[in-house]
Amino acid sequence: MDRMDVIETIAGIQLPGHLHTAQSLQYAQEFQFQEGDIVIISYPKSGTTWMQEILTLIYSQGDTEVATSVPNWERAPWLEHTFFKDLLKEGEGPRIITTHLPSELLAPALQNSKAKVIYVARNPKDVAVSFYYFHKMAKFLPDFDSFTEFLQKFQDGQVHYGSWFQHVKGWYAQKTNLGLFYITYEALQKNFRHSLKKLCKFLGCPMYSRELDQIQNHCKFPVMSQNVMVNYTLIPHKIMDHDQSKFMRKGIVGDWKEHFTDEQNVEFDKLFQEKMSDCGLQFVWSLD
Ligand code: A3P
Repeated sequence: MDRMDVIETIAGIQLPGHLHTAQSLQYAQEFQFQEGDIVIISYPKSGTTWMQEILTLIYSQGDTEVATSVPNWERAPWLEHTFFKDLLKEGEGPRIITTHLPSELLAPALQNSKAKVIYVARNPKDVAVSFYYFHKMAKFLPDFDSFTEFLQKFQDGQVHYGSWFQHVKGWYAQKTNLGLFYITYEALQKNFRHSLKKLCKFLGCPMYSRELDQIQNHCKFPVMSQNVMVNYTLIPHKIMDHDQSKFMRKGIVGDWKEHFTDEQNVEFDKLFQEKMSDCGLQFVWSLD
């Protein structure tokens, strides 16, 4: 059977089978992080690629050579993917590792390491919209007839990569333990420069103003969406169909307002309160 049709399951969470196997997931959980590793953690569609680009540029002092010549999945490979072992290179800079795994699977390995951990979160309503369009273009994800149908599954946590609520809550609970740097898509949008400086401080990477300018310019949505090393147009059409939807789709905050009905919005807010009220997280995004 074509691995594109296979679903791998771990801890009740479904994952695309052409990227994940039982072995790759086992390897991820046993992975030995080392001092200097930088780990980007996110639920899909939360700004992962954006963070991969920012980190690449921080570690190249704003020089765009690597960012425009090496695909993002090679310079910041996904820990749980089958080809991770082959892609992870011991280079000059730190190893930048990306993952969508939930905290229950990965936090134990990280707790015993000196890796620096960055968690990127995004307003779940915008995540749901972005994920819905991603399902249209990514041929390794199930098809949904309508946004309504998808949203129901998303709310129930019955989509690939599991529940958004559990992912964000689970990792947020590890904030102190892991000393993780928690940042949102919305904060990056609102004040990129400020977020970038905070990130550089966390990483212990002082930057000249000129370097910050270069990073800021290169990470703008119109620039990144034209960069074939991050816009996924290098992936064969039969795996990602950009005629259905672009990977770099809109890159805005609040697109959910164009997709949620009033009823869906009320229901989502209620669910959000139920699921997230006990997690102590101060949300910088407005759900309105
Ligand atoms: P939209 O579908 O809302 O446009 P991920 O990398 O986690 O899969 O997230 C993808 C989302 O991040 C997409 O959202 C994509 O357009 C957005 N994105 C990627 N780079 C961005 C940038 N430089 N500025 C703003 N949004 C960006």
